Amino acid sequence: MNTAVLGLQWGDEGKGKAIDYLANRFNVVVRYQGGHNAGHTIFYQGQKVILHLLPSGVFTPDTISIIGHGVVVNPLQLVKEIKNLHDLGIADNNLFLSTAAPLILPVHQKLDIVFESSRYVKIGTTRRGIGPAYEDLCGRRALFIRDLLNKDIFLKQVKSLDDYYNKMMQYFNGEGVRLDSYIDEFIEAGKFLHKYTLNTTYLLDQLLSEGKSILFEGAQGALLDINLGTYPFVTSSNSTIGGIFTGTGISHKAVEKVIGISKAYTTRVGGGPFPSELFKKEAERLRQKGNEFGSTTGRPRRVGWLDLVALKYAIMVNGVDEIFITKLDVLDDFEEIKLVTHYEYKGVRNQIFDTSLDYLDNVETVEKTFAGWNTSIGEARSFQDLPGKAREYIQFIEDYIQITVKYISVGVERDQTIKK
Ligand code: GDP
Ligand code: IMO
Ligand code: MG
Repeated sequence: MNTAVLGLQWGDEGKGKAIDYLANRFNVVVRYQGGHNAGHTIFYQGQKVILHLLPSGVFTPDTISIIGHGVVVNPLQLVKEIKNLHDLGIADNNLFLSTAAPLILPVHQKLDIVFESSRYVKIGTTRRGIGPAYEDLCGRRALFIRDLLNKDIFLKQVKSLDDYYNKMMQYFNGEGVRLDSYIDEFIEAGKFLHKYTLNTTYLLDQLLSEGKSILFEGAQGALLDINLGTYPFVTSSNSTIGGIFTGTGISHKAVEKVIGISKAYTTRVGGGPFPSELFKKEAERLRQKGNEFGSTTGRPRRVGWLDLVALKYAIMVNGVDEIFITKLDVLDDFEEIKLVTHYEYKGVRNQIFDTSLDYLDNVETVEKTFAGWNTSIGEARSFQDLPGKAREYIQFIEDYIQITVKYISVGVERDQTIKK
């Protein structure tokens, strides 16, 4: 059954771990939005690997991996990741890259830094050039993987983009920019990537008609979605379900199931509202227990309790069928665990996640407190193996969101997963 696996929070829910666990039920795993701002952690033969652009099915034998045209690609980063696969002894003959994926160029990374430094309140981007690359796509100036495959075309396109940015700089009395210093390195990357490239929209259509099952791998999370997230503290793509259709060209009818991933608590990297956030000692404890440091940038993640109001919103906008809870083991030795069940805004209690900053910055959270289970659950392999208090915690979440919690992750390894 073709399935979307989507983050329901502010990213880093454990999508890499979950997808690596689920991948052997599918023939194909597809990335369709975001770029190397994503950092999906997988343990492969006991070794930690962080994938930024490659789909998380690459460690599952015979799985086809596709990077669709919705992904913004820094070709140098992709080459690096493929070479890392080679070093790990993993075959790359099942990897395909859309010729229509927009490029991230050095100018985008520079602009990401300039735009951030000019903001009064920082978004805290990953500084990978994601936003400016998508801006060029919407501005109808983007360069694509296909342009890399022919030096003459690439030079012409770069020159045109060069002119655009220089005109902008002159207009603003700046000094101008030089974009030509990277041509050779990019052309080399293009030669390396050539054999993986094709029209992935038709490839996916063919795979569907052959009856292959597809897993769509989301990057980021619902609350970072450009349209449905906590704007402007979001990423520049659609990390909710719609990104699949625009980012692959597949029919909406092809997605048969949606699995939503949520941590047993909440984290966020970068700025922006976070109603259930914890601070100081309490936060430090959860951060250390959960090893909550960014997979892409190494920044300490902000941490807080699981926010069921936010989770229900993410489930609503994605049409989620099943939930995959990760990192339940991180709560193992907390005496008390809390869940946010309501917000209070101007004295009125509600269950609404309105994404406006005025609202989210000013809501008070209403929490329900649970006694912790105070025992290690890393060895649990069935729901019955979990202590009663952990089961109660999961049961409460299920009752609240009215969706089955089908999977529970209790550790970083693939087999540390419970299927209910
Ligand atoms: P992603 O971006 O959603 O793929 O998540 P990241 O890989 O950025 O961050 C999730 C982190 O949690 C990684 O370090 C994972 O190895 C780790 N992780 C995933 N599931 C579990 C779990 O059930 N328990 C623990 N302790 N760690 C987990
Ligand atoms: P995965 O796929 C967590 C956050 C950044 C910043 C905001 C905008 O690993 O879950 P960007 O560089 O995208 O313009 O940054 O989005 N962000 C993520 N946070 N996980 C991610 O990806 C993220 N990708 C972007 O920290 O707040
Ligand atoms: Mg991540």
